[in-house]
Amino acid sequence: MSTSFPDALAAPVADDLVGRYRRFLSKGRASLGEMFGGDVEVAAEGPWIHTAAGRRILNCGGYGVFLMGARHPRVVAEVTRQLNTNPVATRLLLEPAVVDAAEALVEIVPSGLRKVHFAGAGTEAVEAAIKLARAQGKHHLISMELGYHGKTMGALSLTAKDVFQQPFRPLLPQVSHVPYGDAAALERELSRHPGEACVIVEPVQGEAGVIVPPEGYLRDVARLCRQYQALFVLDEIQTGLGRLGTWWGADREGVLPDVLLVGKGLAGGVVPVSAMVATPEAFRPFDKDPFIHTSTFSGNPLAMAAARGAIAAIKEDSLVERAAELGELLLTELERIARKRLGGRLREVRGAGLLIGLEFTVPGLAGELLLELIGAGVLANHSLNSSTVMRLTPPAVLTGTDVQFLLDAFERAAHAVVS
Ligand SMILES: Cc1ncc(COP(=O)(O)O)c(C=O)c1O
Repeated sequence: MSTSFPDALAAPVADDLVGRYRRFLSKGRASLGEMFGGDVEVAAEGPWIHTAAGRRILNCGGYGVFLMGARHPRVVAEVTRQLNTNPVATRLLLEPAVVDAAEALVEIVPSGLRKVHFAGAGTEAVEAAIKLARAQGKHHLISMELGYHGKTMGALSLTAKDVFQQPFRPLLPQVSHVPYGDAAALERELSRHPGEACVIVEPVQGEAGVIVPPEGYLRDVARLCRQYQALFVLDEIQTGLGRLGTWWGADREGVLPDVLLVGKGLAGGVVPVSAMVATPEAFRPFDKDPFIHTSTFSGNPLAMAAARGAIAAIKEDSLVERAAELGELLLTELERIARKRLGGRLREVRGAGLLIGLEFTVPGLAGELLLELIGAGVLANHSLNSSTVMRLTPPAVLTGTDVQFLLDAFERAAHAVVS
């Protein structure tokens, strides 16, 4: 039986949630929840989260997932219809939802990318790309310092952060990391592995603390990959689908990667799904053999309905344009308020579209501000690969009133951390 929105709000939350987290999940996860104020989310609608204590929190966090907020009606309608007809497929018979979703995705990615492999989490799309690279002899993987690509063993080999990698070594062999935004360093590394490298890069580094590369960098990466016959994988799991105010980070410089990775927003805030989209040439090793890389729930109809609904919602509600407009406004206003309230403690406010980072000069300030913001009714993100940057990833569906709420809350929180 489904629970409707008002019922979810009225339903009592069992006692001792933290204790049960501790017992049945993990002590660390329980402590993290406590550290961030211990609020319990019970329902969500659009950009708002509703808590068990009756609070409303504006969701500018969620690690970039909620581009269209929660439970967008278009996505819910598609998913509900699929749930009531054929939610999980047999995988032997043909099934239309997966083709519909693939076609919808191919229509919106940079032209030339035409073959899709669906997965669940972002890290699984990364794994697919690694295997696709290896299957065509690109054995040497090059990723960027501070880049983030997920935490399964292959993806973790690319996620160049020692604390995440250390307990799990040895990881994949033949991986190197070069400084982000430095085309000369990439060329030096590529020249050591002509014809056998795969480069994986984010158009803007998200978890590194919203690092925007110098203009022309992506074009340089594309050119160098061609020159040294490397496979060019653009990880748009965080940046894609309008998050940066363009459909893709690739569009910022008009580049065509061999492989594009999509995740987060593709879920439509409803069913997790990710995808690897490739040119037919790059996809060739996966094209013939349907068993070369499989997973039971890859392309499951429920997730496909969410992906199709998410793409439709982005188009119908002009969310890419909205992300660009809102992003510009927020960047200016957040910078104005942060300069006024935090002065020299602020290093920089930067970003593109609705991926916004605030970097501080004082250790610990990003965390303190995050906590104050939650208290003021706004959820933001910390950055997994940078302790001095707080990240905001607001949905593109914020109204003018929501924006004002965010700015007022930010001003109060910024004032509180220095008082
Ligand atoms: C650029 C990028 N790639 C890959 C991932 C991994 O995605 P997931 O956490 O869904 O596995 C993330 C997650 O933040 C990401 O930002």
